[in-house]
Amino acid sequence: MSIRGTKIEIQELTHRYTPKSPVTFNSITLESPPGEALVIIGRSGCGKSTLLHILAGVLQPTEGKVLLDGHQIEKPSPRWVMMFQAPHLFPWMTVAENVGVGLTFGHWSKKEIVERVTEVINLVELQEFVDNNVQDLSGGQQQRVALARSLVMEPELLLLDEPFSALDAFTRASLQHDVRSIARRLGFNIVIVTHDIDEAVIMADRAVIMAGSPGNIVHELDVALPDPRDRHDPEVQKFRGLLMGAFQEAANV
Ligand SMILES: Nc1ncnc2c1ncn2[C@@H]1O[C@H](COP(=O)(O)OP(=O)(O)OP(=O)(O)O)[C@@H](O)[C@H]1O
Ligand SMILES: [Mg+2]
Repeated sequence: MSIRGTKIEIQELTHRYTPKSPVTFNSITLESPPGEALVIIGRSGCGKSTLLHILAGVLQPTEGKVLLDGHQIEKPSPRWVMMFQAPHLFPWMTVAENVGVGLTFGHWSKKEIVERVTEVINLVELQEFVDNNVQDLSGGQQQRVALARSLVMEPELLLLDEPFSALDAFTRASLQHDVRSIARRLGFNIVIVTHDIDEAVIMADRAVIMAGSPGNIVHELDVALPDPRDRHDPEVQKFRGLLMGAFQEAANV
């Protein structure tokens, strides 16, 4: 697979849903270098999902723009893909069919599709379930299928909106670890939206806190921790404390 990262530039982004709605967020400016895992944390309603939808090109900003490698995002593209809390799979299809469905709309031959699907299914460690119906899989395994379906498009940017919040703690921890390690190995960017401080510390190269009404970025923290990250490691706990402190301070903004 040939995946590469991208430079993300969010420039003075302002959004309101309708002319009469309150401003969701006001003049957000943020950059993320190629290959970075950027986590956006913030309280419910501060505009995280709205920002992610603008990054995905499914929602237009009221003012400002988002550039990927200098090109403005204006519509959805397989170069940037989004994963949600629910896996949204086709229940009548097998694991391999679900993973390959996006490729059937492209220019790939059947042989190429099989090769790419096999490669990403191995990456998310679902080899033994290739021909299973997705309905027979656990929630965590289904979310792995959704991850494979995103990766098969060889995205430069993977957008994740609280993708693991419906999973149990153990499954969540293993997916957090796997998504981070796959992204680091292949080099694509990730932007993750969450209100889970632990998730931020385990997954982020950099965490930004969104707060206020209208929302804005009120704090940034480089999470300079080696991999793999163990949540019981005192260094990881130290960053957790720093982020929790900043999060609480942001609540007063
Ligand atoms: N389609 C919509 N039309 C009008 N207002 C909306 C719409 N979607 C969201 N909002 C409002 O915009 C604000 C930001 O919503 P958003 O979903 O981006 O927040 P969030 O930070 O993702 O919250 P959560 O953590 O609960 O998911 C909220 O006040 C919400 O009520
Ligand atoms: Mg949200």
